[in-house]
Amino acid sequence: MSLIDQIDSTKLPEHIAIIMDGNGRWAKKRGMLRNLGHKSGAKTVKQVVEACAEINVKYLTLYAFSTENWNRPKIEVELLMKLLISSLKKELETLQKNNIKLTTIGNLELLPKTVYNELTDVIEKTKNNTRLTLSLALSYGSREELIKTIKEISLKVKNNLISPENIDKSVINNHLYTRDLPDVDLLIRTSGEQRISNFLLWQIAYAELYFTEVLWPDFTKENLFEAILNYQNRERRFGKTSEQIN
Ligand code: IPE
Ligand code: IPE
Ligand code: MG
Repeated sequence: MSLIDQIDSTKLPEHIAIIMDGNGRWAKKRGMLRNLGHKSGAKTVKQVVEACAEINVKYLTLYAFSTENWNRPKIEVELLMKLLISSLKKELETLQKNNIKLTTIGNLELLPKTVYNELTDVIEKTKNNTRLTLSLALSYGSREELIKTIKEISLKVKNNLISPENIDKSVINNHLYTRDLPDVDLLIRTSGEQRISNFLLWQIAYAELYFTEVLWPDFTKENLFEAILNYQNRERRFGKTSEQIN
């Protein structure tokens, strides 16, 4: 039986988040420039997005550029931004055809104007799509997101719009970039690194973590299905006992 047929459609992760890592090492292994690794990684994005739509995963969040990635060499940052623009232009049709809505999380104000404009254009054009919400984490850092949240809530407290006793999980959730997304069920990281790198710290509180050695440009639909099957074999207890769950 093929992997896709083994997936239990009643036990799908509602929200998958992916730390797409290993583009640079993929290129280096082939004696190529890092840029070519990023280009190849963009092709994987298309495959994975299509696979999620195919099996009816509702939310997919991709870590594309972190707040820390601004510290990379200027030439690499510029190339990543160019690649983003060309991918957005090229994939708008695929998004529409597959009924996929594009959203973003992160500090978009830091992005070059050209990228920002292209993004807002695609977001606007796909806003009524309903099959899958694809959220791109761009200029995203979880600590920066939490600081922004704390500042906004503090201001509301100061202006008597909310009282400190009423601050709960939902108040925090409603101030995060991810306010319209459910908690992450499955977090995947490629390339063998086993760390979170400032991604969705609050939102992965009860996510299942899946690490694979596969470098992002080599990651296939089959690799995604393997991760989902692995997820489906886990028991999510949320603090309860196994007996309570079953
Ligand atoms: C992930 O691949 C892409 C981004 C962070 C933009 P890397 O560029 O981090 O690849 P490695 O880790 O150097 O192999
Ligand atoms: C995390 O990958 C960010 C993205 C995948 C966009 P990095 O390659 O930047 O992470 P570190 O620096 O190795 O932790
Ligand atoms: Mg990396």
